[in-house]
Amino acid sequence: MRKLIIDTDAGVDDSQAILMALTHPNTIVSAITMVTGNVHVTEVTKNVPRILDLCDADVPHYVGAELPLVAPYVDAAHVHGDDGFGGADIPQSTRQPEDEHAVNALIRLINENPNEYEILALGPLTNLALAVRLDPTLPDKIKRLVIMGGTIGAHGNATALAEYNFYADPEAVQIVLDTFGKSAPYPELISWETTLAHCMSWDWYEAWCNHGTDRSEFVHKISERFVARIRERGVTKYALPDPLAMAITLEPDLIEKSDDYYTAMELGGTYARGQLMVDYRDMIDGVTRDGHFPNMTVVTQINMDGFQQLLDDAVK
Ligand code: BDR
Ligand code: CA
Repeated sequence: MRKLIIDTDAGVDDSQAILMALTHPNTIVSAITMVTGNVHVTEVTKNVPRILDLCDADVPHYVGAELPLVAPYVDAAHVHGDDGFGGADIPQSTRQPEDEHAVNALIRLINENPNEYEILALGPLTNLALAVRLDPTLPDKIKRLVIMGGTIGAHGNATALAEYNFYADPEAVQIVLDTFGKSAPYPELISWETTLAHCMSWDWYEAWCNHGTDRSEFVHKISERFVARIRERGVTKYALPDPLAMAITLEPDLIEKSDDYYTAMELGGTYARGQLMVDYRDMIDGVTRDGHFPNMTVVTQINMDGFQQLLDDAVK
């Protein structure tokens, strides 16, 4: 069984991804750590228990960082709604988060169970950066880290050049690269461009929302307002960033192409703050021209049938 810790700013697509994990046969979701991102962590703390209710799943969940390390807070409420659930009418939960802070929980869980956990980061990397600053041994004690975030070809969404999760806390990303990326296995990245290359059709989306189950109704309700807006604007396909990262986490065999690169964050810049720099130049003996070693596995191609199957299974 895969033991998974999900770090999330849920969030519409985060919620869809969490459903995939909670319904996956070979996966135990051991903990969910929550962070400010799409919406403030107080909203995330209302949303995660509602997803757990829907799946009748008892998963300890922990409140994490309230604000980015350095950057001023930028939300994504225009995508996810002020509540992170697209303003949908979803019953509130009576479940309570654990008393322990998410950062302390990450450190404790990983130290109690070295080399057992896989971590999937679906929001800004603030919690992970704080955890590894407090305990630099963490990277050697996890099985795998998968991250949704970043641009690998300068096609941004939060800004022209930067993807939201990385733009929201760029200093945290750099800390994660410098620590978790220090030796193989490197963090595995689903970027915004890879997301755009693995979109679903609107016909598929409609079928997904109409399986006649509670979970199918849920994904419909939380996504319908944003979907209506982007369809009116002429967007031709449905992007699922966090579910795509979840798919390769749950089933790594779905990865059809990935390569290791040296990457770094742009922390200054007039236009480029929050952009991920990927050094694509040929390496000599595994070292870049500037003397850097790879620190990230950039995933660029995923089996679409398998991805779709996982999404469908999550709502059936
Ligand atoms: C990422 O940003 C958030 O808005 C989504 O939940 C996803 O994690 C996409 O850029
Ligand atoms: Ca997210």
